[in-house]
Amino acid sequence: MPTRGDRWSHVTRAVTVGMVVALAAGPAALAAPAPNAPPGSNAPSGPAAPPETAAPSAGPSALAGATQGRELYRQNCASCHGDQGRGSQRGPSLVGVGAASVDFQVGTGRMPIPDEMQQPRRGRPVFSADEIAALVEHVTSFGGGGPGIPRVTEGSLGTGRELFAANCAPCHGGTGAGAALTNGWNAPPLYEATPVQVAEAIRVGPGLMPVFPSQVLTDQQVSDLATYVQRLRSERLDRGGNPLGRLGPLAEGVAAWVVALGLLVAAARWLGRRAGE
Ligand code: HEC
Ligand code: HEC
Repeated sequence: MPTRGDRWSHVTRAVTVGMVVALAAGPAALAAPAPNAPPGSNAPSGPAAPPETAAPSAGPSALAGATQGRELYRQNCASCHGDQGRGSQRGPSLVGVGAASVDFQVGTGRMPIPDEMQQPRRGRPVFSADEIAALVEHVTSFGGGGPGIPRVTEGSLGTGRELFAANCAPCHGGTGAGAALTNGWNAPPLYEATPVQVAEAIRVGPGLMPVFPSQVLTDQQVSDLATYVQRLRSERLDRGGNPLGRLGPLAEGVAAWVVALGLLVAAARWLGRRAGE
């Protein structure tokens, strides 16, 4: 993979470990996360933004979306992700990552990242909602596939609580306060994410977080989780905004398992993406 240079050696290591885990778990485990694109996500229906045909006849508003997206991308993203989104030493390929990934990364202020050697952090978004939409459109025009921006409906708190305990609490803590993972990486607190961002994170699996495709969590279950995560925030505020502390006694075996799961998913994504190239 020429697109990921030395910067990605930790990814390679993760893939190696993940593959070992995957082999131990059998081929089904590797296959599971591959059909990552949920039905109805932006299918590869051709480039959304056709190459600019320097049409001076088109009015400013007609040009606005596509031109704006391309310009914003060129100025803020291309230095790391490449002109055509194929990646560079400084950032991964964005071809086929899907609208949800772009909306999540830019909408949570993770991108554009100031220093690519650090874990991306949540912050105030650099762009307006319109600009983010234009960036999403431009990046998805590099290639189809990948999860679209999920639609979240009102979910069941009870089911959300159970799903959260089983799937999310091992990393983010039972109260959603976040926790350290490994090598200085952490699972962030969940108090600022909007319901759509929660759903995007679930479908995209940013950084060390595993992807939960629709075979693992249905759209309804994702909505249940998004609803419950909002509740975590209000519970925290009710208690005066004190951080509720990190995850309590986390058996080392569980921690290892969770990290192995994350690596396995990273490996499967990497292999899937590679196969798609
Ligand atoms: C300084 C380099 C840099 C800049 C500038 C930058 N990125 Fe990134 N980007 C990265 C790196 C490094 C990662 C991988 C982060 C990680 O390890 O989780 C990444 C990850 C991403 C991802 C997730 C890819 C995936 O596999 O799901 C998206 C989407 C993304 N960037 C979009 C953008 C957009 C859009 C911009 C411009 C607004 C931008 N980035 C600017 C370096 C950069
Ligand atoms: C293996 C550990 C792990 C598991 C399991 C996990 N996450 Fe994450 N999660 C992470 C990491 C690491 C990040 C930060 C990613 C990055 O570097 O940008 C993250 C980021 C997030 C974010 C973004 C928060 C923000 O404010 O920007 C949300 C929301 C989220 N996770 C929700 C969930 C939910 C819901 C589940 C359960 C379905 C879950 N996570 C399971 C590790 C995990």
